[in-house]
Amino acid sequence: MGAAEPAEHVVVYEERGNVAWITLNRPDKLNALNRTVFAELGRALDRLEASEAAVVGVLSGEGRAFAAGADIQDYVGISVGEYRAFMDVGRAVSDRIASLRKPVIAAVRGFALGGGFELVLACDLVIAADNARLGLPETKLGLVPGGGGTQRLPRLVGKMRATELMITGRFLTAEEAHAWGIVNQVVPKDELLERAAELAAAVAAQAPGAVSTIKRIVREGADAPLPTALSLEQDATARLIVSDDALEGIAAFIEKRQPNFGGGQ
Ligand code: COA
Repeated sequence: MGAAEPAEHVVVYEERGNVAWITLNRPDKLNALNRTVFAELGRALDRLEASEAAVVGVLSGEGRAFAAGADIQDYVGISVGEYRAFMDVGRAVSDRIASLRKPVIAAVRGFALGGGFELVLACDLVIAADNARLGLPETKLGLVPGGGGTQRLPRLVGKMRATELMITGRFLTAEEAHAWGIVNQVVPKDELLERAAELAAAVAAQAPGAVSTIKRIVREGADAPLPTALSLEQDATARLIVSDDALEGIAAFIEKRQPNFGGGQ
């Protein structure tokens, strides 16, 4: 059981049972993302991966926003090289979420803008409060999304919707994001973390090795031609049939009892 970080941390990591709660913690700046936030977030994701207890993470924001984007204050006087380095740090966090064996659920209250929205797009599942507002308003600053938004969003919602969102800078409501397939569930804002805990518990009840295999092959298959992706699925499934979890899951079904998964592959 990991202890909560001291309050001054800009990312708080706390394990409760088999769920790791990772919270962006700059509420007075609407959790604007800077190098320190990305570095701490990267460390929190590493802790989730290394944890023996936690099998799923929930990423949320303290206060009234998930994250209102990159910290614009840090853009004043920034050079091309410094900006590239900053984008690399953000990209490393998205890549880390993708490479984790454990799924990460974004729990979004209030604004998820710019880099905040891009973090959401990097997660495996998304639960949104009814007051969530999601957008990529970089054009208002004379910029374009640099954290994967121009590439992940069209792949998720299609070119027309993604382009419209980016070149108008408008924000989606939670319901629109749900209708567009960006969000799995919309819930009352006061119930966000409770409902995220329920979703996390539903994931945690499954065989961990099967969950991580699905995460990996869905992501890898999405970037591959269909025949390659189907082979990826077959290869992964074939290996799992002799895993400890599959032996246990199948035996439990035959014996009409609940399975007791250990996470072996
Ligand atoms: N970078 C740095 N600071 C930010 C920030 C960001 N992306 N977003 C919000 N903040 C800060 C504000 O400057 C303000 O700080 P202050 O109290 O020290 O002045 C604080 O967070 C609260 O934000 P505020 O603008 O007062 O809240 P609001 O409810 O009036 O507006 C937003 C909320 C999200 C519409 C507005 O903050 C905004 O447009 N933020 C920038 C969004 C953006 O362009 N993101 C993409 C960045 S590339």
